[in-house]
Amino acid sequence: RTASPAALVIFGASGDLTRRKLLPAVYNLTLSRLLTGGFAVVGVARRPKPDFAKEMREAVGKHSRRPLEEATWSELEKGISYVQGSFDEAETYTRLAAELERLDAERGTRKNRVFYLAVAPDQFAPIVRGLRAANLVAPPSHEKDAPFQHVVVEKPFGEDLESARTLNRDLLAHLAESQIYRIDHYLGKETVQNLLVLRFGNTIFEPLWSRQHVDHVQITVAEEIGVEGRGKFYEKVGITRDIVQNHALQLLTLVAMEPPSSWDADAVRDEKVKVLRSLRPIAGPDALSSTVRGQYGPGMVRGEKVPGYTEEPDVAKDSTTETYVAMKLHLDSWRWGGVPFYLRAGKRLAKRVAEVVLHFKPLPHGLFKGAPGATEEPNALVMRLQPDEGISLRFAAKIPGGGIAIRGVTMDFRYGAAFGSSTPEAYERLLLDALRGDATLFTRADEVEAQWGFVDPIFEGWRTQSAPIARYAAGSWGPTEADALVEPSSEDARAVCGAGDGGKA
Ligand code: BG6
Repeated sequence: RTASPAALVIFGASGDLTRRKLLPAVYNLTLSRLLTGGFAVVGVARRPKPDFAKEMREAVGKHSRRPLEEATWSELEKGISYVQGSFDEAETYTRLAAELERLDAERGTRKNRVFYLAVAPDQFAPIVRGLRAANLVAPPSHEKDAPFQHVVVEKPFGEDLESARTLNRDLLAHLAESQIYRIDHYLGKETVQNLLVLRFGNTIFEPLWSRQHVDHVQITVAEEIGVEGRGKFYEKVGITRDIVQNHALQLLTLVAMEPPSSWDADAVRDEKVKVLRSLRPIAGPDALSSTVRGQYGPGMVRGEKVPGYTEEPDVAKDSTTETYVAMKLHLDSWRWGGVPFYLRAGKRLAKRVAEVVLHFKPLPHGLFKGAPGATEEPNALVMRLQPDEGISLRFAAKIPGGGIAIRGVTMDFRYGAAFGSSTPEAYERLLLDALRGDATLFTRADEVEAQWGFVDPIFEGWRTQSAPIARYAAGSWGPTEADALVEPSSEDARAVCGAGDGGKA
C-alpha cells in the first residue's frame, strides 16, 4: 500500500539522523514507488541552510542502500524545502504554515502532515505547543478523507519513569495518542517483525513456545562500535537506557507475548504491555544478584587498537557509566513461569550481533549418554536479527558410520538467500507506516512507561547497593562476572544425562 499524499516536516533537520537515516529512507521509498502522489519534505532547524536540498542529495548519495538515480532524485528534490527558525518562536510556525500551504497548492500534499521530531526530548513539548498554537495540528477527525497530522518522536523518550510520564503528559495535552508515533527503530527491522510471523504465521513453533519446552531464552544486542563521539550523551545515559529500556525490551515482548487477536495496532500493543507488566521487578539487592554492569577498557576490535571508554572524548576519567549490561529476568506469567530470560547488551564487544535464542529443555533421559558428541541440550532455535540475518534450528544428528556418534547440526534459513540482499531499512518501514497511519510498530504511552517502570528500580538498586562496575577489554565478550548469572539447567536433567556442560554462556 502506498502512502497518502503528505508533507513530512523534520524538526532538527540539520542533525545526523536526517542525513544518515531519514532522507535515505525517503529516497528509497520514492524509488520503490511507495510515495506516489503529493509528497514533500520540509526541514526545520535553527541554522540557516540555503543549500538544504543539495546537502540532502549528498547525504542520500552516501547513505542510501541503493545508488542515487538522477530522475528519481530530481523529482523528489522539487518537493524539498527548508524553514529556518527557533523551535520556541511563534514566527517559525507561521513561516512553516505558509510553506505548507504553498506545498498543498503546488505539490498536492492535501493538508496531511507528518511532523518528525528528530530533536532532544526537552524540545518535544515546545514544538507540539508551537504546532498547536499555529493550528498546524488539530484533534483527529473521523470523517472520511479528513486531513491527518501525525507526530513522530525519536528516542530517548525520557530518562526515567517520571520524565517519560511528563513527556507523555506534555504531548497528550496537544495531541491524541492516535497521533503520536514513538519510534523504536528495532521494530522497523524486517527480522524483528519476522519474530511475529515466525510465531504466529506458523503452527509448528507455537506449541513449543512456553515453559513446557523452553529451558531459557537469551537475548543479545552486541555491538563492535564504541560510543562514536557521543561521550557526552553516553555519560548521562549508559547502555541500560540506550539499548535495554527500548530495543532489548521490545525484543523480549515480541518473543514472550501471547498471540494478539488481530494485527491491529492496539491489539498487538495490548499484548506487549502485558509482558512488560509481568516482568518480575529487580530492585534492592536483586539489582546486584540479577544484573552485571560493565565498562570497556582499551582493547582490540577487528585487529585495531581501540581506546577504553574513559579515554573517549567527553567522558570523565573516573566515569562509572555502564557500556555493558547483563540481566537475568523472570516473567511471572502462566506461559513463562520459571523460565529465565537472559538479556545482554554491550558496546565494543567481540562481534556485532543481535539475536534471540530459545534453548530447549534438556533430554529427559540420556539414551545416548556416553556416545561421542552426545549432549544433554541438543536443541536451540537461533533467530539472528543482524547481521547475517536468518533462523537456525539446532539438533543432534548421527554421524554416518558404525556405532553411535553424534554431532550438532542446523537447519538454516537465510534472508539473503531466500529474498535477496537489499531489504528495506528500518526507517523506511517506520516512515511509511507513520505516513499511512499504522501505529503497530510504534511504542504506546503505557508501553514506554512500563519499560521505564521496569528499569527504574534497577538504577535505584545500583545506587543504593553501590553496584560495582566490572571491566572488560574492548573486543572481548564482556566481563567474566556475567557468566555467573547463567545457571546450569536443572540438576535432575544433568544427573540423568550426564554429558555436556550446559554450553549456555
Ligand atoms: C541506537 C543507540 O538506538 O541504536 C545506539 O542509541 C546504537 O547507541 C544503535 O548503536 C544500534 O542500532 P542498530 O540498528 O545499529 O543495531
